[in-house]
Amino acid sequence: MSLPDHGPAPRSLADQTEAELGGPLSVLVRQKREHVRLDRLLHRLGETSGSEQDRVLVSIYRLVFPHAFAEESVLWPAVRKVVPDGEQLTLEVEEEHQEVNELVVRLDGDDLPADERQRLLDRLVTVLREDVRDEEDRMLPQLQAALGPAQLRRLGVAWEAVRRTAPTRPHPVVARRPPGNAVAAAPLTVLDNLRDLCEVVAHRVPGAAPALRPASRVLARAAGRAERLPAFRRGERSETARGPGAAA
Ligand SMILES: [Fe+2]
Ligand SMILES: [Fe+2]
Repeated sequence: MSLPDHGPAPRSLADQTEAELGGPLSVLVRQKREHVRLDRLLHRLGETSGSEQDRVLVSIYRLVFPHAFAEESVLWPAVRKVVPDGEQLTLEVEEEHQEVNELVVRLDGDDLPADERQRLLDRLVTVLREDVRDEEDRMLPQLQAALGPAQLRRLGVAWEAVRRTAPTRPHPVVARRPPGNAVAAAPLTVLDNLRDLCEVVAHRVPGAAPALRPASRVLARAAGRAERLPAFRRGERSETARGPGAAA
């Protein structure tokens, strides 16, 4: 989904140097660097197949989920405070994030027919590219216009701190906004990191996979139940709410 037109567009992050964006600590530089990494991975995704494509996909997940979680808990609240139309702009990006979460849950499902998998992959690539353009071309330049370099650097440090300790997997039911997502971050990160560890050990230690797969499934179920806790869903807008009792 593209953001609506709100007058003349400020300069995209894509057209600015790192010095113009506030230097290496600025949240704008950190965002742009990760978007460039994502672009490379999306190209790799189209060039690979089979188990190699699966590995590229996991690299994309490990990049985008902590990145987006930190945006939703640190950056978008700041945008809502200082950017005109910040409420609507952040909501539309949150809807893109929500769709990414839902697409990945479906891609991770068992026995996916090849044509359905390809359809979901194509949609995932489209939504991720739209999300980057909406952030770099519209929302973040407006944040840049509203804040000074020192504030952008402070926001960059805060965003990075949350990104490094954020969940690494899709959580479509948890709130896309504080306070729910902020409360959910620590427990979901612990569960995600344990699942990541199971996968790494299963991959590296011959014969370990049969013992670790059930453990990973138990952790996945625990994360699914945790997501539904009312405290983790507080602050959610109906447009991005999913699960029992939520607006579709
Ligand atoms: Fe981003
Ligand atoms: Fe994003």
